[in-house]
Amino acid sequence: MPSPVPATRRGVLAGAVGIGLLVALPALARAPMRVEVWKSPTCGCCGDWIAHMREAGFEVQIHDTGNTAARARLGLPAKYGSCHTALVAGYVLEGHVPAADVVRLLREKPAALGLAVPGMPVGSPGMDGPEYGGRRDPYDTLLVERGGGGHRVFVAHR
Ligand code: CU
Ligand code: CU
Repeated sequence: MPSPVPATRRGVLAGAVGIGLLVALPALARAPMRVEVWKSPTCGCCGDWIAHMREAGFEVQIHDTGNTAARARLGLPAKYGSCHTALVAGYVLEGHVPAADVVRLLREKPAALGLAVPGMPVGSPGMDGPEYGGRRDPYDTLLVERGGGGHRVFVAHR
């Protein structure tokens, strides 16, 4: 049975559908990435880090249960520990990891457990409020191996 749509018209329609997909796909890629965070209910700098992540476009879900059990469950050794532990796209995030480093992690998708900023370095996102008077201590964002055995510097913040 002949198609009611002439061949040239079909070409135009296919083109329109193709352009529609090209427009829709980046929109899907821009859908907010969900971050799950475990922290103490009284942690102020955790809240400031969460605000930093939300400003960067992440959708943050908060568990005010403390982070020690979550960190252990996710397999991150305590030596990398900080005030909060998070999970994004299967990667662990520990401490005041800059959103830009998380974006790079999600773009490069290295085989790793995740990123950690051990301790709470002053000047890192969420540790950069007016109470620190503009102080910026150098720190590294570490890429921690699966199994938690080792790490390398992912981004040096100097
Ligand atoms: Cu903190
Ligand atoms: Cu925190």
